[in-house]
Amino acid sequence: MGVKDRTPLIAGNWKMNLDHLQAVAFVQKLHWALKDAKHDFESVDVTVFPPFTDLRSVQTLLDADKIPFGLGAQDLSVHDSGAYTGEISGAFLKRLDVASVIIGHSERREYHAEGDDVVSAKVQAALRHGLVPVICVGETSEDLEKYGASAVPVGQLEKALEGVAADAEIVVAYEPVWAIGSGQAATPQQAQEVCQKLRDVIAQRLGEDAAAKTRVLYGGSVKASNIAGFLREPDVDGALVGGASLKVDEFASIIRFQKHVGV
Ligand code: 13P
Repeated sequence: MGVKDRTPLIAGNWKMNLDHLQAVAFVQKLHWALKDAKHDFESVDVTVFPPFTDLRSVQTLLDADKIPFGLGAQDLSVHDSGAYTGEISGAFLKRLDVASVIIGHSERREYHAEGDDVVSAKVQAALRHGLVPVICVGETSEDLEKYGASAVPVGQLEKALEGVAADAEIVVAYEPVWAIGSGQAATPQQAQEVCQKLRDVIAQRLGEDAAAKTRVLYGGSVKASNIAGFLREPDVDGALVGGASLKVDEFASIIRFQKHVGV
């Protein structure tokens, strides 16, 4: 399989931004902007990850207007149902046509004390309910100084993949913590180096076929002006975008990276 046989994936992690009314308006505007630009929707997969309270409204809109974006959630419970106040089950997400779920984001690891075993349990919960886990890994600036760029993300991915079947569909996102929201993105070469090592982990754990099929994304201060460089790298299959996924024109331009770079 040639490297760019993998359909690129541009994913917008909205974090705790946009209420359900703003979300609907945003998705409509994004769709119009892409249609106006005669965007080839087949060439790139687009997924938005709104807050939980937006999911139903966005799902209804995508369905009614036949907007070809995927719908993702930002988290899920390790449990399927029961006395877990405030938690959201993967079963509920599946019922809303949610297709994928972000797991192990550094903001959950840092602010909600989610360690590798919680991440692993969440990956299992996602797969149990037919959701594609978007497994986030990445090193802090201290990790970078102490261990280099790849040791921590590689270790995090090895743990997250424990017990995952070779034919499970997953997405991996390399998000160096120092690059998130800082305006200081990794270089394409740095991203490539780690993404390649992450693909090696997939090959070792799940086999060569899985490694060839699985999309490995880069995330951290991605913008329209730097997306091209990342997507030119052989092991970077797309981006997980935070801040820039909240601006219609900027996000549309990221989605249309092939136009401005000739990848
Ligand atoms: P920024 O694009 O705002 O740096 O955020 C990246 C991120 O955390 C996506 O999950």
